[in-house]
Amino acid sequence: MTAAVTPGREVVLETDRLLLRPWRVAEAVIQRELWTERDPRVPPHRRIDADGHPTVAELEDSIRTDHPSSIGLLAVERKAARDVIGYCGLIDGGRESPREPELAFELLRRSWRQGYATEASWAVLDWARLSGYERLWATVWDWNTASRRVLTKVRFTETERKEVDPTHGTTLLLTRRL
Ligand SMILES: CC(C)(COP(=O)(O)OP(=O)(O)OC[C@H]1O[C@@H](n2cnc3c(N)ncnc32)[C@H](O)[C@@H]1OP(=O)(O)O)[C@@H](O)C(=O)NCCC(=O)NCCS
Repeated sequence: MTAAVTPGREVVLETDRLLLRPWRVAEAVIQRELWTERDPRVPPHRRIDADGHPTVAELEDSIRTDHPSSIGLLAVERKAARDVIGYCGLIDGGRESPREPELAFELLRRSWRQGYATEASWAVLDWARLSGYERLWATVWDWNTASRRVLTKVRFTETERKEVDPTHGTTLLLTRRL
């Protein structure tokens, strides 16, 4: 697992099977596919609304303005197939200090259960360490077995903290020292 980050250059992380790098505008269609595939239990603001937003054009705009440096969601590209299957990266969850971002990942269903999220997460942990972060957080719905399993595999531990939402379920807060 390697995380090669050159200051001032585009972030590119490389693992055995994956490249993690900034999204390209033409890949907005893949971001939209991720939106359409989301579990119905995910809250409405993270799902395509009745008017079809976000549209591909809106997602293209957000890619144009996004330049990951020591934080951001990177496109996960399979090296062999050269296709993008989702994202993995760091976000400012606004929960703790900006010096303690959250790990986040989401992949297209057709690529699930092949170890990609775990492999990408290890690279992002290396990136976070190289960027000087000392601790990360993660939030996950209690019903999200696959995500909880990935977080366990990359050695996050559950805290006592939970947020209960009667409609969407309970969000668990996990943390990991780097
Ligand atoms: C979470 C997600 C990224 C995992 O991606 P992935 O590439 O399939 O993950 P991995 O293959 O690295 O690991 C998945 C693990 O969960 C397990 N798993 C997957 N689905 C499961 C299920 N329904 N029940 C039990 N275990 C499950 C797999 O067996 C594997 O564990 P193992 O290696 O011990 O066998 C993917 O399911 C996804 O995109 N989900 C929707 C978005 C999401 O939930 N994002 C996280 C928000 S917190």
